[in-house]
Amino acid sequence: MIHVPWQEPEQLPPAKGDSDLGGRRLEEVEPGHALVDVRGLKKYFPIRGGFLSRVTDHLLAVDGVTFWIGKGETLGLVGESGSGKSTTGRAILRLIEPTAGLVRFDGVDVTAMDRDALQGLRRRAQIIFQDPFASLNPRMTVGDSIREVLKVHRLARGDVADRRVRELLKLVGLLPAHANRYPHEFSGGQRQRIGIARALSVEPDFIVCDEPVSALDVSVQAQVVNLLEELQERLGLAYLFIAHDLSVIEHVSDRVAVMYLGRIVELADAGDLVAEPKHPYTRALLSAVPIPEPGRKRKRIVLPGDVPSPVDPPPGCPFHPRCPHPLKDEECARVVPPLAEKAPGHFAACIKEPALARFQPGAEEC
Ligand SMILES: Nc1ncnc2c1ncn2[C@@H]1O[C@H](COP(=O)(O)OP(=O)(O)OP(=O)(O)O)[C@@H](O)[C@H]1O
Ligand code: SF4
Ligand SMILES: [Mg+2]
Repeated sequence: MIHVPWQEPEQLPPAKGDSDLGGRRLEEVEPGHALVDVRGLKKYFPIRGGFLSRVTDHLLAVDGVTFWIGKGETLGLVGESGSGKSTTGRAILRLIEPTAGLVRFDGVDVTAMDRDALQGLRRRAQIIFQDPFASLNPRMTVGDSIREVLKVHRLARGDVADRRVRELLKLVGLLPAHANRYPHEFSGGQRQRIGIARALSVEPDFIVCDEPVSALDVSVQAQVVNLLEELQERLGLAYLFIAHDLSVIEHVSDRVAVMYLGRIVELADAGDLVAEPKHPYTRALLSAVPIPEPGRKRKRIVLPGDVPSPVDPPPGCPFHPRCPHPLKDEECARVVPPLAEKAPGHFAACIKEPALARFQPGAEEC
């Protein structure tokens, strides 16, 4: 029995009481010209134990994730801590080896790339982290850090590299003279700008932004988000933008994917996801986001219990032990819900949320 308040969506789809697996599955959709195309990505970390340190179990950090990102597009990836967001971002760049699945970058299979091909990938696909301090060498000046990347990728040397460093610092709103300073001489926001300049030095097409603003003060967060948006417009970049905070994600993303226990449970255009969330987990996440209108408040949905262990995820719907959906039943503990299209371009993994009109018998196909 669940004692949490349930927030009724404004237009509740027809309640059925039984499962509805209707709607195309995300895996069946051909994205056309995706820059990044991820299909059934899995990353299981081995758990070792005992005297001989044998593999005794696996932690299912990412468990069959499918999505794509178009050129110049931002896909937001949101979810609680430990849901597998960073692991997804790192696995698609092969910073960690995926356990299974397919990742294509501009049509080329990343999972099959050899060392040289991976070096080429790193020139087109970069990552920026939550804590840029950790990724900058404290004993190197900012200029040397950026020059190092240019050298590794054989992009520029000598005066050309110096000029490029100055250009990059200006591009991210810093001064050319900052090239001679060390990372500890900068504020958090400035350090994040340096991390961005470093990522941009190879002129990438795609950047995984892993919580790039989470460690910054709110006022500085907006500056860095605006900078990333400006650069996207100017340079045609695509982003996988990872964050805990749905209000940041909603602001920056074209589409949003919501992760729970290593899986995507909902994926839709940012506006649709926020206006009409279809998965109970997304509704709970959204209920915690303040409405920026005086006097208006959302009714908070407090989920019972903690996120289960990814070493032993629940059978059936991974969300079922915490799900406040009024139609939840024993079927939820048995059936693994596919990520199915419930409304055009709007996918959710819930067997109690029927596909809407387009998919119902007698409805006209649009
Ligand atoms: N190298 C590793 N070895 C073993 N387990 C790992 C490793 N990296 C991550 N994990 C585990 O994988 C799961 C997913 O971690 P991940 O860092 O991807 O989550 P996240 O969604 O990015 O969380 P956060 O919001 O806290 O950054 C977690 O349970 C984490 O403990
Ligand atoms: S337990 Fe899962 S499938 Fe069942 S209602 Fe909740 S989200 Fe949907
Ligand atoms: Mg993370």
